[in-house]
Amino acid sequence: MGLKMALLYGGQSGEHEVSVMSAASVVQAIRGQMEILPIGITKEGQWIPGLSPETLAQRGCWTVTSGEAPEDDGLVQNPAGFLLDFLRRRVDLVFPLLHGPMGEDGTIQGLLELAGIPYIGAGVAASAVGMDKEMMKALFKQHALPIGDYLVYRRYEWESAPEKVRKEIEERLGYPCFVKPANLGSSVGISKAHNRAELDAAFNLALTYDRKVVVEAFLDGREVECGVLGNDQPEPSVPGEIVPGAEFYSYEDKYIKNDSQLIIPARLTDAQRAKVQELAVRAFKAIDCAGMGRVDFFVLNRDGQIVVNEINTIPGFTKISMYPKLWAATGLPYPELIQRLAGLALERFRDRRRAG
Ligand SMILES: Nc1ncnc2c1ncn2[C@@H]1O[C@H](COP(=O)(O)OP(=O)(O)O)[C@@H](O)[C@H]1O
Ligand SMILES: [Mg+2]
Repeated sequence: MGLKMALLYGGQSGEHEVSVMSAASVVQAIRGQMEILPIGITKEGQWIPGLSPETLAQRGCWTVTSGEAPEDDGLVQNPAGFLLDFLRRRVDLVFPLLHGPMGEDGTIQGLLELAGIPYIGAGVAASAVGMDKEMMKALFKQHALPIGDYLVYRRYEWESAPEKVRKEIEERLGYPCFVKPANLGSSVGISKAHNRAELDAAFNLALTYDRKVVVEAFLDGREVECGVLGNDQPEPSVPGEIVPGAEFYSYEDKYIKNDSQLIIPARLTDAQRAKVQELAVRAFKAIDCAGMGRVDFFVLNRDGQIVVNEINTIPGFTKISMYPKLWAATGLPYPELIQRLAGLALERFRDRRRAG
């Protein structure tokens, strides 16, 4: 049946549920084309080989009682050893379909490098950079990509001199501004602050998720996203547009209320579409991404200017998520997209072996 692929999904981040849904879509789409070994990662961090996304979704939080013997029931308490001894012998490649920290940030990718197993998507460095908004912006700047103005603070700066921080933000960025934990995704811990009181609350919230906080000037515009696919010669998809159901595209809006809307293709002039696609590929290359990436933009209401917001190295991957839909609209249906990503993973693995 061709390739045998392990699908790592679930995980300990706030995006556990999204990952489970993405995995269910993948399993369903390539049934019969590829042999899939699903490995569910519970919210507590245990790895359960053979666990189907439907079962993990039903059980929700998987708590292991003290009577259960890990050796007997397939639970894995030591993922590193498990990968090295088991996965290498059993599969051709791994699809880490995990969002957020401990999945999308280079940690799992590092483990897979150690294990010598090909995997889908960005490598260690690109994954880490894509997860850290400070690093990402620094690389975007270096590659002359248009980004909004921003400031970065460590926890100790806020705790030791909050007045200085407030003043700096007010003088340079003004209100409203966006306050974000540097390393997270899915809008978790992000606030739009309209005044000083909200700024304080926003800092306190963001600092519960990370020791580093990014504050951004408010960009008044429409949100446009573009898929990128490939390794050294990546290609852009048709761009799409998000119409948030709330004041901004918040976690609740993304995953709970679900009242945001996707418009594909995005409403852009030909010149804007070409610009978005060019910038998407440049952003992908700027962080040395591989396989897939979704680059998110603002199209400013003021003058139609295109500004890069971020790149996601493991974008939402359910059949109805933006990334797969963008590729379907570009002429690459969901099952073929998965096959292409698998091929790119093997290509990149061979390419790296040549150097090593
Ligand atoms: N500088 C900004 N100006 C206006 N809206 C923003 C800004 N930054 C973020 N947002 C809004 O917040 C959402 C989440 O922010 P984003 O940086 O994409 O974080 P995440 O990595 O969690 O997706 C965006 O989709 C957008 O709706
Ligand atoms: Mg985003």
